[in-house]
Amino acid sequence: FAFTPENLDKAKGYVARYPEGRQASAVIWLLYLAQEQNGGWLSVPAIEYVASFLGMAPIRVHEVVSFYTMFNTQPVGRHQIQICRTTSCWLRGSDEISKACLEEAGTSRFGELSEDGAFSVVEVECLGACCNAPMFQVNDRDYYEDLTPEKAKEIMRALRKGETPAAGSQQGRVSSEPEGGLT
Ligand code: FES
Repeated sequence: FAFTPENLDKAKGYVARYPEGRQASAVIWLLYLAQEQNGGWLSVPAIEYVASFLGMAPIRVHEVVSFYTMFNTQPVGRHQIQICRTTSCWLRGSDEISKACLEEAGTSRFGELSEDGAFSVVEVECLGACCNAPMFQVNDRDYYEDLTPEKAKEIMRALRKGETPAAGSQQGRVSSEPEGGLT
């Protein structure tokens, strides 16, 4: 593994944001970059490349990777379903959402790649959308909230067909932000 010329420039830019001798502070940025370049997951060579780029002991970078659920250490599906399992979502049925998502993906455990490569399903900690629990996030980006098991499956079926289902509350709840936005 090695950064593409474009990512190499970006990586140098991230490192330059920190004081001399503190380049290890850029580790999260570089891991994100490596993960994106590597198709959504971090292989051991990618982790070790980042370590050597930053002059860090590989074990220190492995520690960072294994601490954060946003880093994946095995291949992920084209759509990575990240189900929140923290208190609000759990109280509102996240276990049932997880079960439904695994069923729809046709996988038996979290992190497993579906046969068609379309999905991998994982559980993560609070994503900050607790008021519309339960919810999942797709590919670190789109929030689907106020889910039911059936709705979760419906969203996954649409994703599998290449559609982009509307994100946000699946029960039509809207933000109370006044028209024209907050000032
Ligand atoms: Fe699920 Fe906060 S508990 S988003």
